[in-house]
Amino acid sequence: MGNLTHLSIALDGPAGSGKSSVAKQLANELNIHYLDTGAMYRAVAFAALEKGIDPKDAATVESLLKATSITVHFEQGNQRVYIDDIDVTANIRTSAVSNAASDIAMHPSVRYKLAEMQRAVASQYDIVVDGRDIGTFVLPEAEYKFFLTASEEVRAKRRFKENKENGIPSELEDLRMEIKQRDYNDTHRELAPLKQAEDAIKIDSSDLTLEEVVGAIMSYVKGGQQS
Ligand code: DC
Repeated sequence: MGNLTHLSIALDGPAGSGKSSVAKQLANELNIHYLDTGAMYRAVAFAALEKGIDPKDAATVESLLKATSITVHFEQGNQRVYIDDIDVTANIRTSAVSNAASDIAMHPSVRYKLAEMQRAVASQYDIVVDGRDIGTFVLPEAEYKFFLTASEEVRAKRRFKENKENGIPSELEDLRMEIKQRDYNDTHRELAPLKQAEDAIKIDSSDLTLEEVVGAIMSYVKGGQQS
């Protein structure tokens, strides 16, 4: 387990690959915590948009970060994200915030700060952590590493369905474009880009149900096979 004293499962992959649903179910079945790191980038993005800050403007974003407190709490096992003691968990799922989060995530100052917070949380609990750089940068010592993918088409359709269920109006074509742009940003940034860790197990979920993906991961974790 390397330097980590708790069980940690790193789950990385692009937008819409099903990470959060898989991570949620895994955490439930294993009775461990689930840390959604995307929510932290989204919270910073939300704060920037609220203050009229351009998410691409590194210097202003850095000042915002210094002046703002971002915290993550688990309430009845569920993650809540706070900006200066205001719970923003319900405000961070819009397309505007998704796009701004992808821009915000380019800045090394943001990544270093959030990665440090993520390591601190992971050191306290048995946990599944989802994101883009968990297996490569945040928790390179994670006991299990998975890289979840799915075709662009499938991912756009999943986001569309998810938005519909959450009452967020959206167009499939817009979501397809948004996913393309975020994939580009996430894989091309300099620090800790979206990338499969060499020792991660890749799972293509395009033709798999949520239960099948979770079942596949559970068989590795229960079987005690190291990634
Ligand atoms: O997983 P998500 O869609 O909630 O993530 C929102 C954005 O945050 C995503 O486009 C890239 C960024 N992100 C990141 O750069 N690193 C992470 N570990 C998690 C998310």
